[in-house]
Amino acid sequence: MSETVTFRVQRFKQGDPASHYDTFQESTDPRTTVLDVLTRIRRVEDPTLTLRHSCFHASCGTCGMKVNGREVLACVTNVRELGTDEVVVQPLDNAPLVSDLVVDMGPFYARFNAIDRPLVRESELVPGSHPAEGIPHAERYEDCIECGICLSACPIAATDPEYLGPAALAAADRLREEPRGQQVPPALRLADDPHGAWRCHVAFECSEACPSNVDPAGHIMSLRRSLIGRRWRALRGEPVGAER
Ligand code: SF4
Ligand code: FES
Repeated sequence: MSETVTFRVQRFKQGDPASHYDTFQESTDPRTTVLDVLTRIRRVEDPTLTLRHSCFHASCGTCGMKVNGREVLACVTNVRELGTDEVVVQPLDNAPLVSDLVVDMGPFYARFNAIDRPLVRESELVPGSHPAEGIPHAERYEDCIECGICLSACPIAATDPEYLGPAALAAADRLREEPRGQQVPPALRLADDPHGAWRCHVAFECSEACPSNVDPAGHIMSLRRSLIGRRWRALRGEPVGAER
């Protein structure tokens, strides 16, 4: 049965002195997602509403936004399951605002470049396969869909724009676990920086928010253990080792 839900959508265009909210009354059925509503608003009511999306099924990572204060993928956020008749939609935090719900992802992607980690997406292990020798678990970093949700949810990124951030640090840890012929030490040196793994305050908001079960905070902890081991071996005059 159709139900009407109030949507308050944050709006901003370049040159505006500040953001404001526009309100839309939208009919929803039990399967309606937030992205369904937003694309309908743009199609039928306000073609100037800007947002990013592509796949509609949680794989491209472009529709990250805040819904009722939490970072989500709009394409898989069911309106009814929010349990409220008023839905507030905002762009992601900790990224430059471009227009309405669109943020500039460039600085987020640049963090991956700094780590020098090519993205290899592999959403699921092949049935019956096992993690490679030396890989402790099957949570593959390649599950990352580069949505930027973890950076938006991170309280440290809000105060330190130089912080490398959860996704890039998870990338560094994946590189350490599975170098695939790449040089690991440069990424570890970057992760060992004051704006790297040590800057994390263990809030675990990134892992809580990540829609793809990457567990970036878990990777940061694993990275810290590895960096401590390297420092300890260096103090003892032992070979530091290339990766671990
Ligand atoms: S680690 Fe998770 S939240 Fe962060 S960019 Fe990757 S998929 Fe998105
Ligand atoms: S539209 Fe691709 S992840 Fe949501």
